[in-house]
Amino acid sequence: MIKVLFVCLGNICRSPMAEAVFQEMVNHAGLADQFQIDSAGTSGWHVGEKAHHGTLDVLKRNGIGYNGRSRQFSHADLESFDYIVTMDRANLVDVHRMLGVVHPKVVMFLQYANRAGTVQVTEVPDPYYTGGFDEVYDLISRGCEALLSHIRLEKQI
Ligand code: 4NP
Repeated sequence: MIKVLFVCLGNICRSPMAEAVFQEMVNHAGLADQFQIDSAGTSGWHVGEKAHHGTLDVLKRNGIGYNGRSRQFSHADLESFDYIVTMDRANLVDVHRMLGVVHPKVVMFLQYANRAGTVQVTEVPDPYYTGGFDEVYDLISRGCEALLSHIRLEKQI
């Protein structure tokens, strides 16, 4: 199993959206039995809550369902996951701080799409503050395409 964990601040807007979109892409590629996909937040502010209505709404409009509940990232996730994928640089710094170590499993989500030239930015802006859920969905879709290509190459699947 290839285990992928998406991480943002609250685990109600960006990382649940990335989890749902990536799961959909993996399903579509016929790779569902080879992946375990989850998401978490660096904060515990929304633990147990459903995803933000803005995230659920844009997912629904794109034909994707999501039932997950917010949970906080924990040190045990380093053992459990192969890729710990952060939405922005603050999330990356916070994860490293929580782990007490800079670990190569922890990566920035948009670096692959940025390198491929399909996005011009390296961080997913937080729609909790900006309200730009459609723009974030577009960035996340491109990010997931490039991340899946990267993992398929690395894992030879
Ligand atoms: P997320 O967005 O990190 O993409 O889930 C946020 C959700 C909640 C808060 C901040 C960002 N908050 O301040 O409660």
